[in-house]
Amino acid sequence: MKTAVLLFFIGAAVAVTYDECIQCICIVETSCAMPDPLCNFDLHGSEACGPYQITYPYWIDGGRQGGDWKSCTESFSCSNSTVDGYMARYATEARLGHPPGCEDWARIHNGGPNGHTSAATLGYWGRVHGCLHNYLP
Ligand SMILES: *[C@@H]1O[C@H](CO)[C@@H](O)[C@H](O)[C@H]1NC(C)=O
Repeated sequence: MKTAVLLFFIGAAVAVTYDECIQCICIVETSCAMPDPLCNFDLHGSEACGPYQITYPYWIDGGRQGGDWKSCTESFSCSNSTVDGYMARYATEARLGHPPGCEDWARIHNGGPNGHTSAATLGYWGRVHGCLHNYLP
């Protein structure tokens, strides 16, 4: 019990910033390199493009940045803005019931608006969590 409480506070003390979290999402998706080919079909048959593997509905909900889905995902800055727009829409304290953190951003990125509560996104969060430990100072 004491160990669990201690670990909780250690975990809480190492606050992951939004930028660090997004960087790790990008690394998990594509090693944060522009993929070639730009788009791939994921396990569920959805076409996903660019360094964050952004799908068409994600691009729409992310604010239709750059005016065109695939050309947006060819650009790091447009892809980043899309992720920012998506998180501003869905990873809100009002929706989640708590301030958003890296687990929410990762699971929503992977599983959609309710990904933060979906068991299907836990493995993905494990990969992002591993990245945080391996790549960040
Ligand atoms: C986009 O985000 C990635 C991951 O955080 C970062 O490495 C990159 O520098 C950003 N690019 C631009 C143009 O903002």
